[in-house]
Amino acid sequence: MPYELVAEVLSNRPLSGITWELKLRAHPIAEESLPGQFVMLDTKPTEVEDYDPLNRRPFAVGDAEGAQITIFYDVVGRGTRKIARLTAGDSVRLLGPLGDGTFPLYGDRTAVVVAGGIGASGVSLLVRRLAERKVPTVVLYGARSREYLSLKEWFEKISRKGVEVRFYTDDGSFGKKGFPLQDLDEFVQNPEKVVVYACGPKPMLRALKEKAEKLNLETYLSLDRRMACGWGVCLGCVVKTTAGYERVCKEGPVFEARKLVDF
Ligand SMILES: Cc1cc2nc3c(=O)[nH]c(=O)nc-3n(C[C@H](O)[C@H](O)[C@H](O)COP(=O)(O)OP(=O)(O)OC[C@H]3O[C@@H](n4cnc5c(N)ncnc54)[C@H](O)[C@@H]3O)c2cc1C
Ligand code: FES
Repeated sequence: MPYELVAEVLSNRPLSGITWELKLRAHPIAEESLPGQFVMLDTKPTEVEDYDPLNRRPFAVGDAEGAQITIFYDVVGRGTRKIARLTAGDSVRLLGPLGDGTFPLYGDRTAVVVAGGIGASGVSLLVRRLAERKVPTVVLYGARSREYLSLKEWFEKISRKGVEVRFYTDDGSFGKKGFPLQDLDEFVQNPEKVVVYACGPKPMLRALKEKAEKLNLETYLSLDRRMACGWGVCLGCVVKTTAGYERVCKEGPVFEARKLVDF
């Protein structure tokens, strides 16, 4: 069930590249968020008339512990520049958790989690939940260069809980040179014992869908669309699926890859 609430900023700091980490006290969103779900964040302070930007912005629940959530965000425009100016003690308005399409968890399969760039924030909560359940998990996390592996520290930390994390960079400045998808073939011996989860840039997700279909791997993709309402009303975020047009904010943001016709 989504809640609309005022959340207190606990901290807000730059990580690396253009990525920042925002921690919020957000009970009960923190306790109820499922892997894949997101929040709509409104930076307008509650007591001031301020309409800039007009719409709330969608962000994955990147992590959730106790009553606290973490959002990892890239500063790309008006809204995120404003978020980067928040400091501890400020308030923001939140709507969430949103999205009926979440990552399904299986206890008896190896989880292969593919993350590209800031898309890592769309799978980080999933990886925490997989680690807590001791599901065998391999993370393939790629970015254009070391600087853009902004969640590197977060994933290094979770790797101490038994998760295997492999890093990739386009330019070879950290981890393996190349793309995360190049190692997917390793997991095809028993496709029924594997489930693939991914979030990242559209070309990566499209290539993954194609590859997963060829390899017969069950695959779930978290999609990113510009969103106005975030809760199913404006129809601004639809994608074509085998069941007709569906809303990324409502039926998604996670879809089984096979179901997606055009995205
Ligand atoms: C379900 C969901 C979860 C998301 N989770 C995260 C997250 O965890 N971390 C994160 O950094 N971002 C995430 N995003 C993207 C984030 O919402 C946008 O980057 C943000 O809204 C940009 O706001 P802005 O006002 O700074 O940019 P604007 O000033 O609105 O736009 C600046 C530039 O960014 C582009 N842009 C804006 N929104 C999007 C979008 N949704 N997708 C692609 N390009 C966009 C614009 O076309 C423009 O070029 C998510 C999006 C969705 C739909
Ligand atoms: S953003 Fe309005 S329906 Fe999805």
